[in-house]
Amino acid sequence: MSSLRKDVLGLEEMSAEEILMVLDIAERFRAVFDRPVRSVPIMRGRTVVNFFHEPSTRTRISFELAEKRLSADIVNFSVANSSFTKGETLRDTAENLQAMKIDMLVVRHKSSGSAQYLAKVLTCPVINAGDGCHEHPTQGLLDIMTMRQRLGDLRGKRVTIIGDIAHSRVARSNIWGLGKLGAEVTVCGPPTMVPGHIERLGVKVEYDLKRAVANADVLNVLRIQLERGAGTGFPSNREYHRMFGVTEDVVRLLKPAAFIMHPGPMNRNVEIASEVADGPRQVILDQVANGVAVRMALIYLLSGGDPGALASGEAA
Ligand code: CP
Repeated sequence: MSSLRKDVLGLEEMSAEEILMVLDIAERFRAVFDRPVRSVPIMRGRTVVNFFHEPSTRTRISFELAEKRLSADIVNFSVANSSFTKGETLRDTAENLQAMKIDMLVVRHKSSGSAQYLAKVLTCPVINAGDGCHEHPTQGLLDIMTMRQRLGDLRGKRVTIIGDIAHSRVARSNIWGLGKLGAEVTVCGPPTMVPGHIERLGVKVEYDLKRAVANADVLNVLRIQLERGAGTGFPSNREYHRMFGVTEDVVRLLKPAAFIMHPGPMNRNVEIASEVADGPRQVILDQVANGVAVRMALIYLLSGGDPGALASGEAA
């Protein structure tokens, strides 16, 4: 992969082979987590900047842990204490970082396309940690890793994505990645939250939750993104929960082996009932653990790591 691309900006642009390579390497790193010493010296002497312009718990800490476990030097960029507050542009900020000889940039930003923009400005690799409503490729990869661990080959497997499809970069990365690996994706949500013509991305649309979950192998339940205006798409949180919330009644309709995912952060008792979020069918914290491994794999590959070396156990 390091010879194929400079940046990871979305799963739309990645091939099935690239996605599988990242997942295979992530499995190698996941195995390192069970050792007493969880770090490897792969990124020693290299500097990664985490450039987060939006709040984040999982993605920011997961990237930081991935970088620490690869022994990178880390700089966490805090917007509130930066010259952004004095009006400095994204481009000027990026060029200043480049002048300081950084080796990689991880960016989260509220604007779709911001990661692509920075990738053009910077000569170092850029990883998109979520750009507006566009893509969240590392979340897509960790979701797919979690599905693959339980289902094996994803060809023909049925994944239902429920919720605020219109505002969800997680939905878009899942749709692109799962489609490339041959899974059958259904999206379900209120008509106000499902973009018109989304079928063009190769998914089925189902507005009835009971029908959408009946044959699914996986439910991926999305967060209602109130900060992106999702609250205008339905009358109230209670109404949303009644119509599209994944409750124990919904879980009873699932196939016996079907499981439930959520990217976090959760709005408990809105898109997912608290009993389901804590129940036996959910794999939410496995997703979080896989996130560190996926990010380690991407940083390794983008910094020029040899997938063959890791596969034979030399690097880890
Ligand atoms: N899933 C996810 O992106 O969570 P954070 O916003 O906490 O990073």
